Amino acid sequence: MTQGDATQLVQILIFGGRGDLARRKLVPAIASLARRPQGGAQLQVVGIGRSGMSDDAFRAWLRGFPQQGHAEAFDAIAPQVHYRSADVQDLASLAKLRAEVDALAGGAEVARLCYLALEPRLFASAVTLLSESGIVHRHRSEDRGYRRVIIEKPFGHDLASAHALNEAVQRVLNEHQVLRIDHYLGKETVQNLLGFRFHNAIFEPVWNRHHVELVQITVAETLGVEEGRAAYYDGTGALRDVLQNHMLQVLALVAMEPPASLDAEALRNQKVEVLRALRLPDPEEVARSSVRARYGPGAAQRGYLDEVGVAEDSTTETYVALRAEINNWRWRGVPFLLRHGKRLPKRFTEVQVQFRMPPLQLFNRPPDMSDAEFDRALHNGALCLIRPNVLTIGIQPRETIGLSFGVKQPGPEMIMAPAALAFDYRERFDDAPPDAYERLLQDAIAGDATLFLRSDEIEASWRYCDAVRTAWSEHGAVPLHEYPAGTWGPAAADELFRGCEGGWTRG
Ligand code: BG6
Repeated sequence: MTQGDATQLVQILIFGGRGDLARRKLVPAIASLARRPQGGAQLQVVGIGRSGMSDDAFRAWLRGFPQQGHAEAFDAIAPQVHYRSADVQDLASLAKLRAEVDALAGGAEVARLCYLALEPRLFASAVTLLSESGIVHRHRSEDRGYRRVIIEKPFGHDLASAHALNEAVQRVLNEHQVLRIDHYLGKETVQNLLGFRFHNAIFEPVWNRHHVELVQITVAETLGVEEGRAAYYDGTGALRDVLQNHMLQVLALVAMEPPASLDAEALRNQKVEVLRALRLPDPEEVARSSVRARYGPGAAQRGYLDEVGVAEDSTTETYVALRAEINNWRWRGVPFLLRHGKRLPKRFTEVQVQFRMPPLQLFNRPPDMSDAEFDRALHNGALCLIRPNVLTIGIQPRETIGLSFGVKQPGPEMIMAPAALAFDYRERFDDAPPDAYERLLQDAIAGDATLFLRSDEIEASWRYCDAVRTAWSEHGAVPLHEYPAGTWGPAAADELFRGCEGGWTRG
């Protein structure tokens, strides 16, 4: 049977089937996908965990997830949802599981997608044992149903561990069978960065160091570290949890050269070029170009050290701000200001491309100001009517694009006032974009790796983050600041704008 045959059965095995990700994201996404024809494929879901559980109890647990419309969508696929217990660290247990999932397929040739929603330390051994048990195998030309493995983030905790994991995976599978997920790439607005840049030719001539003064990328969250997450988060921190993956992927899409096609390899080749061109800062540079902090107690919110499960002597950051640089012809010298924090006042993810000011200001100049005073006031942003052009791409929660510019204020005087063009995805398309996991699972089923990460992209991202983290931990180059929960983070982060107009956006 080949992909796309009318009767093809696609078996999705979720390792970590009793986990939060499976219940909150994966199964609702599969239920929603199953409503649409999948190229003739029929989906079967098998949740796998160590504890014993009946199919019915598993279905009841999944169905109970409170999300609008989920119960109805789930009921339609419930008969195809099963639960089997197995231990991914035990070969005999996986051999038994293999017989069980083969039996569930009823003797049909299946395509099989194994989703590793497991503790990251188990990824390498799980892939090895999945292969030894025959649940997956390296692709063979005579194969009639595919075998693919999706690996959740974090993919490694530094360059060395990511490299070791890549090696372990590539020992048993071909690269095209491995789908390393970064759910940001499943977001419509993140994909639209490509569409927006490479469909609208008017931006290309100004998308470079000659016209762009700086690029800001923010991932701001109001949530703190939720109960049950400290075991993962404490010791991981904001740099590794969000900046290394989601933010560097967004940066790569903003900064990459146009690919020759939308082919997965063409696209990923261009992204990896950007990630490799990130200037690796030495400890002295890290001290000048990074700020780390953690939230302390705020109005009605506890501080990070009081969260359940956080070590008393923790030095984990919940906030990171970086001034990154891309050493290539297009971007050399343009600061990429990256900021991510938990327990900030507002949840939003946004990209801002700030263009250079005109070389000479003809408008809005107070008549009695000297040239020097005027230049200083401009630079400090003291003249609020004189603002640079800024292109703002809102990724979430509202999916928007805005372009700010100046227009002449009506009246006898030549005074320019700020104005903006605005686009809102939901107003234009009457609907919220689909969930990121739905899109990514659909692509995984179809074998389209465009929105998944290649091994070299991940390693290039870690190389950059390792340089920052080593300077933090080994050279003590950067103090760990504290900010009250519910505020915008430490004032020290404002200094990363040195030499540039403006400051951090507040969404
Ligand atoms: C996850 C991180 O990868 O992304 C979380 O582990 C973070 O800590 C989340 O909250 C943010 O994702 P989103 O889609 O809510 O922006």
